Amino acid sequence: MAGASKAASLRVSASAGSNAGIYHGTATPQGLTAGRGRRAREALVFAAGVAAALLALIGTGSVLYPGGRGGLVTLAVPVPGPEDGPRTFYDDPELSYAVASGRRLTRWDAKRAEWLRSRGLVRRNAPERVVMVSGSQPEPCPGDAGDHLMLRFLKNKVDYCRLHGIELLYNREFLHPAMRAYWAKIPIVRAAMLAHPEAEWVWWVDSDAVFTDMDFSLPLAKYAGRNFVVYGWPNKFFVRKSWLGLNAGVFLIRNCQWSLDFMDEWARMGPAYPEEHARWGKTLRDALSDVDSDVACDQSALVYLLLNGWARLGKKTFIETEYFFQGYWKEVVDRLDGVAARYEAVERRTPTLGLRRRHAEREHLRYAAARNAAVSGVVPGPAGGGEMGWRRPLITHFVGCQPCSGGRNPMYSRESCDDGMRRALAFADDQVLRAYGFRHAAPLNDSVRALPFDYPAAHARNN
Ligand SMILES: *[C@@H]1O[C@H](CO)[C@@H](O)[C@H](O)[C@H]1NC(C)=O
Repeated sequence: MAGASKAASLRVSASAGSNAGIYHGTATPQGLTAGRGRRAREALVFAAGVAAALLALIGTGSVLYPGGRGGLVTLAVPVPGPEDGPRTFYDDPELSYAVASGRRLTRWDAKRAEWLRSRGLVRRNAPERVVMVSGSQPEPCPGDAGDHLMLRFLKNKVDYCRLHGIELLYNREFLHPAMRAYWAKIPIVRAAMLAHPEAEWVWWVDSDAVFTDMDFSLPLAKYAGRNFVVYGWPNKFFVRKSWLGLNAGVFLIRNCQWSLDFMDEWARMGPAYPEEHARWGKTLRDALSDVDSDVACDQSALVYLLLNGWARLGKKTFIETEYFFQGYWKEVVDRLDGVAARYEAVERRTPTLGLRRRHAEREHLRYAAARNAAVSGVVPGPAGGGEMGWRRPLITHFVGCQPCSGGRNPMYSRESCDDGMRRALAFADDQVLRAYGFRHAAPLNDSVRALPFDYPAAHARNN
């Protein structure tokens, strides 16, 4: 793939980003939004104060409050019961989930470790738990069939997570009124860390990203000692200081204090801090080589934060380049038929591997490992896919297509986006349907056909 064409195509996400606010129906003047945000924030702070006061009272055992017909009513209040286990940070009324204007959470590593111990969940050599977090807007999608597409994107994540023993948290709320569109991920990722102390990792995956390799598992051992994993192009990031040097649409972040502080720093560049956010818009435009907007987006903020803080943050950050931790859809979709054909040919030629059709879905990962062994070195390219070769890409990311709003970047035709998305989703579905004995009649056909019992060997005989 030529560097120039990639640079041109990747620029698309610039417009994708700047469009994003529009489809959330926030075409309000900046000042109005900021004012409303501030008031809402104050209301939140106030509400938090009330909640803390109430919890403090709950701690004393009961609350007296005026009610009923003019009398005082004693309210029985819940206290942690024996089935709740020992008290932990959850019982601390000072605990704050706030992404903006809130207290910073401290000593999270100790709190989390204590919670794990109190629940008997500390196990040596246990696989690290991953919670995948994704989400889309609160309102119905304005685009034609936008909601149907979002359902298919969600179904794709449900499939991947079921096959890999990953829990999926799908969010459709803006947890902070100002953190909308592409900024909305920060509050939910932070909240997910606190709500899932059992998870070592939180894996953010944009709603418009499709898992196109149901076999590939995250190489977590490779990320030991790192806290933040993101896909990137080192030359574009380090040398050209391009805001497209990293892709913020998919990232893996360790559930630890470092990450909370990192997300906090990142969030402080966003619209929850209107004055700083406005200044950041100009700073990012000056500091990065190719930003064409005065409004700071999450990705340019991330690039700047990591670039300028590399001495401090770099040793905990892993820029993934080896496989398609997220792959640009234009580099992927036209290859998918060829990928499917190559995998099928390998499986047909190697009947001894036992990659037969009928097996419990629960055993998927064993079959995935066998298939990986069969295709490695035969089908060129890295496991998890890459810019070269014919391996299945782990994630195909439809940047610029905007399936929910339909407001795709004008440099793409409707057909290229729509067919590309349907092709990738069906490519993934076929990998899942196979355990049930079916596959799509054709890449862009929603009908299915039954597979012979020993597909793909039988398929070879029939041909
Ligand atoms: C889809 O496949 C089915 C079954 O092979 C076929 O009958 C149908 O005509 C196909 N639809 C399209 C739109 O090609």
